[in-house]
Amino acid sequence: MRLPFHVASHLDASLRAAAAKLGLAERGFQPEVRVADPAHGDFQANGALAFAKREKQNPRALAQQVVDQLGDLAGDFDLTLAGPGFINFRLRPAALLGWLQEYDTEERLQSGAASARAGQTWIVDYSAPNTAKQMHVGHLRSAVIGEAICRLLAFSGARVIRDNHIGDWGTQFGKLIWAYKQAALSGAAALQSALATAPLEEFERLYKLGNHAADADPAVLAAAQQELVKLQRGDAENLAVWQHINDVSLAAFQQIYDQLGIKFDVTLGESFYNDKVDRIYRELTDCGLAEESKGALVVFHPEHPRFQTQPFIVRKSDGASNYASTDLATILYRYEHFKVDGAAYVIDSRQSDHLEQLFLTAEKWFAKTNRKLPHVEHVGFGTVLGENHKPLKTRDGENIRLKALLDEARERAFALVSAKSPEAPEAERRAIADVVGVASVQYADLSQNRSSDYVFAWDKMISLEGNTAAYLLYAVTRVGSIFRKAATAGSGAESGSKPDSPSVALAKEGAPPPISGEDSARWAALATAPESAAEINLARKLVKFADAVQLATNTLRPHYLCTYLYELAGEFSTFYAADKVIVDDPAVRARRLLLCHRTRLVLTAGLHLLGLRTLERM
Ligand code: ARG
Repeated sequence: MRLPFHVASHLDASLRAAAAKLGLAERGFQPEVRVADPAHGDFQANGALAFAKREKQNPRALAQQVVDQLGDLAGDFDLTLAGPGFINFRLRPAALLGWLQEYDTEERLQSGAASARAGQTWIVDYSAPNTAKQMHVGHLRSAVIGEAICRLLAFSGARVIRDNHIGDWGTQFGKLIWAYKQAALSGAAALQSALATAPLEEFERLYKLGNHAADADPAVLAAAQQELVKLQRGDAENLAVWQHINDVSLAAFQQIYDQLGIKFDVTLGESFYNDKVDRIYRELTDCGLAEESKGALVVFHPEHPRFQTQPFIVRKSDGASNYASTDLATILYRYEHFKVDGAAYVIDSRQSDHLEQLFLTAEKWFAKTNRKLPHVEHVGFGTVLGENHKPLKTRDGENIRLKALLDEARERAFALVSAKSPEAPEAERRAIADVVGVASVQYADLSQNRSSDYVFAWDKMISLEGNTAAYLLYAVTRVGSIFRKAATAGSGAESGSKPDSPSVALAKEGAPPPISGEDSARWAALATAPESAAEINLARKLVKFADAVQLATNTLRPHYLCTYLYELAGEFSTFYAADKVIVDDPAVRARRLLLCHRTRLVLTAGLHLLGLRTLERM
């Protein structure tokens, strides 16, 4: 039998079946399968130990009983008992080969992974800037981490709804609409042309104008407030202006999203929930959760050290809705309309109090109304810091525009690529730099544990050395240059020659390496099982792609996948230094080319899962 994509789950199922036969399952035996330290094997099951201790049995004897039931795994694994009762599993070379033969395209990898969350629907709430303003560096992490999480969830079989919960209904709209109308009166053509060239800059300028005017003149302030009241009452003209501002803003945001590989399924901003909050007040009051306090409607959480005195304010004392009311309405809508199983909120960790109160309130409210609360999770993240370890700003202390940041990334990557390959045509260097620059920013963000702050350092992130996008993108192209050699080296005469350096690879004209599904199938058919230590280690690492994906998905932490890809690239380098690929023996050559091919495949699939674009040549 061929091993399934996720070997650890297969072991888990086998161990559970064995435990059931021994009558241990109903007494609560858990296999506890983990990826093992490579020195000991590929996987280990620790469950016998804890179980035996609890049941006052000899753990080693119990583990042995379990192992005795696992006879049919012996074809694929070497099973050994270690220490006081760990079961170690080492994949046999033939099993490694079988897995490599089976998973030969990104689609195949995906269909292997898809059973994990098949049938689930997830909504991912990410990016969510405020309209009528440019996105700045503070908006980077939610967009980048959110997109990676969408792709990980979809890869493991979930239906994913990408939701941009934009802020589109704030009090600033009164002033903005006032200034917008003034500008339209004094020169509609000039306004439209400013909006056509730099819409968000123009909205920012108008808002400032309105704000200053309102500060200086109480009559303007009153007029602006009147505009807001009209908007909220549904005045047709103001609604149209507001809608126009939102449309233009979203189109401008899309230019950034395009660079980051993001396309939202829905944009249900805060305003969407405006007519849905009355029902929330009613339900929370009826089920006894909310109470009036100083004119506001609030929810206390008596069991919580802080929220017993610091309530969740769901309706302000002036009767207006707020962030809490719209977010409560959002949960209900996601439950009723999208019927989600899970919702991931990719929001700055500084909002953790809001989300904790939101989730606590929703838990109690859903329980009291006999609804099943979907899995809700705050995917929090730290701040992007400058080299001075303070939040990253421009020299004048302004927020750095995301657009400017991505432009600079591409420019710096262009310098890197040009230094490496000055002889390549400029258009080609530009095209490569566009991918490397943006990918470097994405990867620098994703490769950190998202809970921590990180220091934004151009020289470290746009580099061919270290755990960077450029290093991994280059690793992908390096495998391609081996295929080019394989295609030209009929007799293996060029065997063992070094893969192209980045400059040589870039300078070569012509099509990318001619690797078709046919080549891959031919190598898979001719290949014998891995034999050398380097082949075996690389194959073992490839099989663990499934574990890295699973860990990153279950924890909603993409950095686990980054670490894995970096280690895989390292394992590949070791293999390439140790073993010649283009040798005469057709079986050896085929199995080494197969390892090269699958390395490139897994690296590519992994980078795509993170939201990065990859290159054929660099
Ligand atoms: N617009 C909000 C902000 O800028 C983020 C919204 C996040 N999503 C949510 N459902 N609260 O902080």
